[in-house]
Amino acid sequence: MSLLEVSDVSKTYGSGRGVVTALEDVTFSVETGSMLAILGPSGSGKTTLLSIVAGLLQPTSGRIVIDGQPIHLRSQREAALYRRDKIGIVFQDYHLIPYLSAVENLLLMPRLAGRATRAHREKALGLLEEFGIGERAKHAPWELSGGERQRVAIARALMNDPEIMLVDEPTANLDTERGTQVVAMLGEHVRGRDMTCLMVTHDVRMAEGADRVLRLVDGRVV
Ligand SMILES: Nc1ncnc2c1ncn2[C@@H]1O[C@H](COP(=O)(O)OP(=O)(O)O)[C@@H](O)[C@H]1O
Ligand SMILES: [Mg+2]
Repeated sequence: MSLLEVSDVSKTYGSGRGVVTALEDVTFSVETGSMLAILGPSGSGKTTLLSIVAGLLQPTSGRIVIDGQPIHLRSQREAALYRRDKIGIVFQDYHLIPYLSAVENLLLMPRLAGRATRAHREKALGLLEEFGIGERAKHAPWELSGGERQRVAIARALMNDPEIMLVDEPTANLDTERGTQVVAMLGEHVRGRDMTCLMVTHDVRMAEGADRVLRLVDGRVV
């Protein structure tokens, strides 16, 4: 169960004459079991917004509330625990570990935590299967296409059943048909569980798979 509420969030970088306003009074919410797409051109503040929701960046002002809990007030340590336990992030450039296979990339976090079990492995293989890359489980990232790498990154973010899934430019380097397919699969996964998904993209076609679409222009929701 996760209702994500973003209220009056502003973010400025720098100070004095060099100040950049990346977000200005952004307000929206995402209901449990749904996917919201935020559509905006490059430089409109999309990555800044995802980083704030992930607790990686502090907003200059405003509130992020998840299930009634304000998360913008947390310490760095609390924010790190919150990310580990509740958030799945798919970065624009995937951040896969190049010398680990697809399935090992999914198993990295439980292994680092010293609690990888056979159940984790089965879950990892099941997720790769669900996203249509089961037969690629033992391949390294450099042996995979851009679309396959992206599916690995999505599957990895889903490994710990995050309450909130954050996806940055899901289709940056993909052809459209593949891209919309991946978004549709993710949407199905999200709706089938009590997961909440926030996706940001510059590509209007990717937003078709979402339950709701907002537009971001120059840091403002319009
Ligand atoms: N660390 C930073 N320092 C200064 N300006 C930044 C920083 N990160 C982003 N910006 C600026 O904030 C604005 C929004 O950037 P970003 O959130 O990356 O947008 P998008 O993801 O939509 O391309 C841009 O004008 C960008 O140059
Ligand atoms: Mg970006």
